[in-house]
Amino acid sequence: MLNKRIETAINEQIKKEEFSSRLYLSMAIWCEVNGFPGAATFLYRQSDEERMHQLKLVHYVNDRSGQAALMALEQPQAEYKSLQDVFKQVMDHEQYITASINELYGITLEEKDYTTGNFLQWYINEQIEEESTMSTILDKISLVGADKAGMFHIDKELETMTANAPAL
Ligand code: FEO
Repeated sequence: MLNKRIETAINEQIKKEEFSSRLYLSMAIWCEVNGFPGAATFLYRQSDEERMHQLKLVHYVNDRSGQAALMALEQPQAEYKSLQDVFKQVMDHEQYITASINELYGITLEEKDYTTGNFLQWYINEQIEEESTMSTILDKISLVGADKAGMFHIDKELETMTANAPAL
């Protein structure tokens, strides 16, 4: 049985993962209509991954005799200045999610809920993978700068890239 503090904290994380999914969907839409089909494919895939992160938490809460709760979400940003702007914001967002997962993990330690702490290890690893992929992408983008051919290749590359640890 989950204690209330943990249940509430996981429900907050469910909201953040759901928002991440919508944010990346919004970015994918922008990329698709602004000539970055590869980045769009990458971000549609990331959006699905975030939905999976959300669902994993939903099932965990329910399986531990809690009740997952959904909350109102803010509207994600629809317009971006450039592909670099998109991925800078992905990076900022993932750093925010990493901090949030770490905070949640800290609560499980305070509450001596080692089962939930153990469950969260997967998310901790996932954040390492995601941040490292996003930083690689950002490095590539800043390297090519305004070069159109270089940007075309990065977009192509993004089509087949994934940012996630293997699912357990
Ligand atoms: Fe589910 Fe990318 O954090």
